[in-house]
Amino acid sequence: MPITVHKLSSRLGAVVEGVDLSDDHPRPEVVADLRSALNAHKALFFDDVNLNDAAQERVASFFGDITRAHPTVPAAAGTRNVLAVDSETSRSNQWHTDVTFVVNPPQVSTLRSVITTPYGGETLIADSGGAYRDLPESLRALADSLRAVHTNAYDYARPQRSATQAQQEHHRQFVSKIYEVEHPVVRVHPLTGERGLFIGGFVRNLVGLPKSDSQELLQIFQRYVTRPENVIRWRWAPNQLLIFDNRITQHYAIDNYDDLPRLLHRVTVAGDVPVGVDGRASRQLVGDPSDYSVIAEVAA
Ligand SMILES: [Fe+2]
Repeated sequence: MPITVHKLSSRLGAVVEGVDLSDDHPRPEVVADLRSALNAHKALFFDDVNLNDAAQERVASFFGDITRAHPTVPAAAGTRNVLAVDSETSRSNQWHTDVTFVVNPPQVSTLRSVITTPYGGETLIADSGGAYRDLPESLRALADSLRAVHTNAYDYARPQRSATQAQQEHHRQFVSKIYEVEHPVVRVHPLTGERGLFIGGFVRNLVGLPKSDSQELLQIFQRYVTRPENVIRWRWAPNQLLIFDNRITQHYAIDNYDDLPRLLHRVTVAGDVPVGVDGRASRQLVGDPSDYSVIAEVAA
């Protein structure tokens, strides 16, 4: 049976049916169909997936080698490669692309709903390729020429003064090793050739610009990413899987569910080193992430 794809918006997102992700031995055509659906839609949602942690790792590995859970945060109990995205320890209510503070951020992230909230707790996903195309030509040319420094030791995930002990401990782990990397502001997607704004919550500054200019320019670019036309809003139910292309999207977990528990399990796929429109690759400035992730070869 061919897979069925129901689009969620003109720019990104689709609900996929007709695939049994719990099948241990999917046909190669199914994996190829999923890969091309991800290239086309950037974020794929699946209902009633019936996966455990090991099965989620197996599904993620359709797309390449999987990474360890996180460069600094320990894996969920009993796993090596699963990160618990747990409202008890952190709330990712910042626009970001996953783990962009390493030289080869994950190419794909998978999120599986374990505990969902009766209201709120949606995930927003934005199309950074659409954002790039929306830029006026002069801003596009400017973005093409810029590089940005990303780090894990910046505003993202810094706890509020009112943070609980669990949140403070999570943050202490998060910054227990410091990473800094220089990425192009515009990344060329290695499989589709599409250009996208590659910024988000871990960006500290644009290279070679005064801090204030850097902040203002980043805000301008980011406004294009988060235009409603570029964003979908996913309301979680239990037993769902989201697979998104971390090379050309940003996401945001809305903190609108009070103190209710919310738990997603995340498994990520090792990424390639980003390349800008001028062919220049990213470079690690501080820290060595090689024990977190292998560097993916770009598939033809
Ligand atoms: Fe994330």
